Amino acid sequence: MKTIKDADVTGKKVLVRCDFNVPLDENGNILDNFRIKETAPTINYLADKGARVILMSHLGDPEGFSVNLTLDKVKESLSQILGREIKKANDCTGEEVKKMTQSLLDGEILILENLRFNKEEAENNQEFAKQLAGLADIYINEAFSVCHREHASIASVPFYLPAYAGFLLEKEIVSLERVYKDPEKPMIAIIGGKKVETKIKVIDRLSERSTFVIISGLIKKEADEKKIPFILPEKIVAPTGNLSDFDISDETIELFKEKILTAKTVLWNGPFGKTEDEQYCKGTLAIANAIVESGAFSLAGGGETIEFLDRHGLTEKFSHVSTGGGAMLSFLAGEELPGLKALN
Ligand code: 3PG
Repeated sequence: MKTIKDADVTGKKVLVRCDFNVPLDENGNILDNFRIKETAPTINYLADKGARVILMSHLGDPEGFSVNLTLDKVKESLSQILGREIKKANDCTGEEVKKMTQSLLDGEILILENLRFNKEEAENNQEFAKQLAGLADIYINEAFSVCHREHASIASVPFYLPAYAGFLLEKEIVSLERVYKDPEKPMIAIIGGKKVETKIKVIDRLSERSTFVIISGLIKKEADEKKIPFILPEKIVAPTGNLSDFDISDETIELFKEKILTAKTVLWNGPFGKTEDEQYCKGTLAIANAIVESGAFSLAGGGETIEFLDRHGLTEKFSHVSTGGGAMLSFLAGEELPGLKALN
């Protein structure tokens, strides 16, 4: 895979696919800027080299324009992190946007509007991909966490431009390969959170590589209701009691801890309850503390998990925190990620 260091970026228009899909409160304020901070080395590198930097990202999953999901707050946060001025376009394609990209000077940064305001992004529409590609000379994928999506900016734009991996994408792959290729056993995978549909598919694959897979009540409930059997049910550890509870029970905490404390490698994605509410954080906190206490190589990832770890001051205690949730799981389950395939 060619990386950013292989590209001659000076004076070039460089289109960087980032993942600024950050958690927001009900007023659209950013709850956690980990994903934004993680892109800083690549953006600073490009600007320092005199590239004309064009950033693009999605935020949330809107159907058309949504005032709460514009990238204005992302722009402010990024500008503060970088200590640099950033221009913003009100769309991601079209004549106005093209003019803005053409008038960029060396080292200047422009951020495009939320890609998913255009349904063509998620449809992987080729005309849309060509229009995005037409804005720049070089493409950089810095959005590992979206690489499992067959979306235009991820899976198609790299076919129309010389394409490279950014520093964050490269770092993610190096850390995840350590867990994928040669994990020290016992390995425990812990899968909670939302987006159940994405997860159910990879649990079976992960169970083949792990000693145990601990799953949330939400996932167990959906598997039960849809009559989806696990291929290695003896490796699946689920909460006991009411699966719809907002937090796991003390009994479940003990059951999970007993497994986690034996681990040499732990992979964790997704909280185990309604953790946006502090009163329901007990179970997830117990899981996080058990992972740290185990001394295992610990890999955690996903938007909600990152926010949870940051909120409880635990991020630094993990060996690697991945920006990816679904992407991390797909990668570790051995699936081919469309974004990585396109880069290669
Ligand atoms: C994520 O939050 O995992 C990525 O940004 C992808 O978002 P999506 O699940 O809405 O495609």
